[in-house]
Amino acid sequence: MCGIIGYIGHRRASEVLLHGLSQVEYRGYDSAGMVVSSGKGMRLLKDAGKLRDIHAKHDFLKLEGGIGLGHTRWATHGPPCERNAHPHSDCAGNVAVVHNGIIENHRALRTELMARGHKFSSDTDTEVVAHLIEEGMKKKKEKSPSASDSRRPSEGAARINDAVLDAVRAAISRLEGTYALGILIAGENRLFLARRHAPLIIGKGKKEEMFFASDIPALLGYTRDFILLNEGDMAQVDAKGATIWGADGKPAVRSPLHVDWTPQMAQKNGHDYFMLKEILEQPLTLASAVSADVAEGVRLMSGAVRPAIVACGTSYYAALVLQYLLHKQKKVANTYLGSEYAYWRTGGEDVVVAISQSGETADTLAAVRLAKKEGAKVLAITNVVGSTLSREADATLYIGVGPEVGVVATKTFTGQLAVIYKLAYSMSGNRAGLDELEAMPASVQKMLDEIQEPVKHLAKLMSKRRNFFFISRGVGWPCALEAALKLKEITYLHAEAYAAGELKHGPISMLEEKVPVIAIAPSGSLAPKMESNIRECKARGASMIVLSDDKTIRDEGEHWLVMPKVSDDFVPLFYILPLQLLAYYMTLELGRDPDQPRNLAKSVTVE
Ligand code: G6P
Repeated sequence: MCGIIGYIGHRRASEVLLHGLSQVEYRGYDSAGMVVSSGKGMRLLKDAGKLRDIHAKHDFLKLEGGIGLGHTRWATHGPPCERNAHPHSDCAGNVAVVHNGIIENHRALRTELMARGHKFSSDTDTEVVAHLIEEGMKKKKEKSPSASDSRRPSEGAARINDAVLDAVRAAISRLEGTYALGILIAGENRLFLARRHAPLIIGKGKKEEMFFASDIPALLGYTRDFILLNEGDMAQVDAKGATIWGADGKPAVRSPLHVDWTPQMAQKNGHDYFMLKEILEQPLTLASAVSADVAEGVRLMSGAVRPAIVACGTSYYAALVLQYLLHKQKKVANTYLGSEYAYWRTGGEDVVVAISQSGETADTLAAVRLAKKEGAKVLAITNVVGSTLSREADATLYIGVGPEVGVVATKTFTGQLAVIYKLAYSMSGNRAGLDELEAMPASVQKMLDEIQEPVKHLAKLMSKRRNFFFISRGVGWPCALEAALKLKEITYLHAEAYAAGELKHGPISMLEEKVPVIAIAPSGSLAPKMESNIRECKARGASMIVLSDDKTIRDEGEHWLVMPKVSDDFVPLFYILPLQLLAYYMTLELGRDPDQPRNLAKSVTVE
């Protein structure tokens, strides 16, 4: 949710910021902007719309200077428009601020600042930060006799610099809520940053240049050496390095992190969209996920008496698969949506498994914090090394599928599933399952090679329909839920998923002539009842699309996709692949953008 990038060094800042923003744009893309400072002063450029359109209209690269901040927005306070786009500045235009998160006490601060004569020009919560700093600097100047003492210019300058730091620190201390903040002040050869419950990392350049950003992929083109800030940290960054203060205001040292992700991993590699690239690279990413070290997870989970699982969105459907596998081992685990955990938990959970591709989802983190407070150990399953979740968890299993840039989850979902299978099979000592898992990436490759063309054809037909139902049973049901989510996220069409047996308890009333019902119907234990459910839909005129490895079941469909035979557990992993592709190709048919669907953000850092 909102992408932030900052740069200070020898390059043209606008170039770095523009590149970095294009990498974090998936976090929010309803407006964008940047501010750059040079000897000639500070210049700010921002507008509503997508980054490439704003750049085409205004040309970010005309901004000169080696220090700057950039931002892509996912609106919370105030609609997406030029005046609400970040950076925001103070009355005099000397302070510029970019922010991700929500300043919860912004109303009170705004009233107080307006009473002191500050003029606001946006509807955002963020703008108070710029005015608070301006106010702090004004007060310091008034108090400092040396600020106007022309006989001792260098000492005066040093004091003013300290006054700037004090004003920034004082402003931050007034904020309640969540923030990742980047702050630029005219005439300063340094940037300020602060984080509280929102991601922000510092990147170290090779020679005399420093970066910061909301996440690691934004900076991969420049560095793979990072410094991770803790909750409540504030930092000052100049071209030579970073000075960090902890939440207690004392100087702090934070450990460096070197990542092995490459810039190419965050490129489209010849594909039109990241989503297609990320779907097609799943044989590789699955091979990497399958090699995850799950020992810590096995240790925690094996000792758990009352485990629970929390997650949101796509990760929640992966969580249901983990629940299913644990129940097969007679290990009862409740599964909760992160946002509902506080209301529904039984209490007394000893281990909470938190699944989140980004490791930054606020709802999941809130559940984790609550569980920890009540004494639970936390096992994280995430893709992002150094993410907030991984740092707050007692142990982390990394899915290791490389950066996922498309807003909707594809390879991270299957990566989560792979790690979940490995965890569950390792817990129960299921050697055959582990062997099958090892062989799975090759079968996925074969299937993807064969299924693309039939799916493209189906997408052409389906893109003319407006309502879709997905049905399955057992462990196929989370797959149906995820398939419906994929379709609605990027096509904006109406799609719902049901456990196939539930259809007759209400939703069947919505079936009429030619409404597509997509049935995930593998052979095996689920087949007989799925066949009956398919017939029930056909009897109401529905247009059945059947995915199965069994010809007899496929023959029930008006359309079908030939699936490989897989064991029951692997149904969600294999069957989601053609349905990811279906959503993708239908989106193209409809002329929409699969990488940046409207209203969504990849990492949702507000509750
Ligand atoms: C957002 C994304 C979804 C994702 C969900 C949970 O809503 O758009 O694709 O499934 O967050 O994200 P997480 O990072 O916790 O898996």
